[in-house]
Amino acid sequence: MDQISDIKTVGVIGAGTMGQGIAHVLLRAGYAVLLQDVSEKYLKRGSDRILLGLGRDVDKGRLNEQQRQQAVERLETTIRLDGLAAAQFIIEAVTEDFNVKSDVFRALDEACGPNVIFASNTSSLSITRLAAVTRRSDRFVGLHFFNPVPVMKLVEIVPGLQTSAPTLSLAKELATSLGKTPVLANDFPGFISNRVLMPMINEAIYALMEGVAEPQAIDEVMKLGMNHPMGPLELADFIGLDVCLDIMKVLYDGFHDSKYRPCPLLEKMVNAGWLGRKTGKGFYQYKAQ
Ligand code: 3HC
Repeated sequence: MDQISDIKTVGVIGAGTMGQGIAHVLLRAGYAVLLQDVSEKYLKRGSDRILLGLGRDVDKGRLNEQQRQQAVERLETTIRLDGLAAAQFIIEAVTEDFNVKSDVFRALDEACGPNVIFASNTSSLSITRLAAVTRRSDRFVGLHFFNPVPVMKLVEIVPGLQTSAPTLSLAKELATSLGKTPVLANDFPGFISNRVLMPMINEAIYALMEGVAEPQAIDEVMKLGMNHPMGPLELADFIGLDVCLDIMKVLYDGFHDSKYRPCPLLEKMVNAGWLGRKTGKGFYQYKAQ
């Protein structure tokens, strides 16, 4: 399985925001998708959103009606990990927790043939360490997508220490076939994206905590002065404050450098359950999702 043309079916583990987006762009690009999650309820919610997205692609002229229909027919869901055994390439997008991800990969390693390639959409965990829980660490790679996946052009491609050259080039080709731009980042905490983005968000939260300005002012400065599409606090709410805190902890623990110390206000807000858009409250108020 060293050719992109050998990849017909891609497994996606996790039907949350990232899994939905990844499945959506795979279907749109012509792949068959096996979407797995632990409950029928999550699968139903995930596939409903994917179907809505494909419908929007027709409205926007990105697909015609026949292509949409065919894409819908290429989507299958399963609550069993061994239901992914028919895939040639599997992308994991479950909770950002090393133990949860490693349990998934251990089980998947048992269920799948030795040639199947595994990718993790982790935003900051070590690919080298995740790959080591499987017996196919050469066929393991980081494939980091960005939210909203159908819109964002970037995929960070992260080889672990063990990743083989053919696996790496296949991962790049897969990302390209989805209309994305792959950028290579070596396996360091946070890779490139979150090593740069999260300290900026964390610093914006320090600025708020220290009374430099109100949230709107901090966001306006970065939108109007730096042309960012969202200010850092609005973006933190969009990503999820729990996710931001988890990534800051990975940076802090990984580099042992105080410059990555999570802002106490970020920790407090997470402790309060104010996680941003998904809970209806973060730096701003939202209609709960
Ligand atoms: N899901 C899917 N599609 C979405 C979406 C969502 N949540 N939000 C917006 N879109 C789509 C819209 O449908 C629209 O597409 P279409 O009209 O072509 O069909 C397109 O995005 C533009 O949307 P809008 O015109 O409504 O809104 P904006 O112009 O304000 O753009 C945005 C919205 C694309 C979200 C823009 O604000 C943006 O780029 N924000 C920054 C996003 C960002 O930085 N993401 C990375 C987060 S970090 C990450 O994911 C890594 C992780 O490890 C933390």
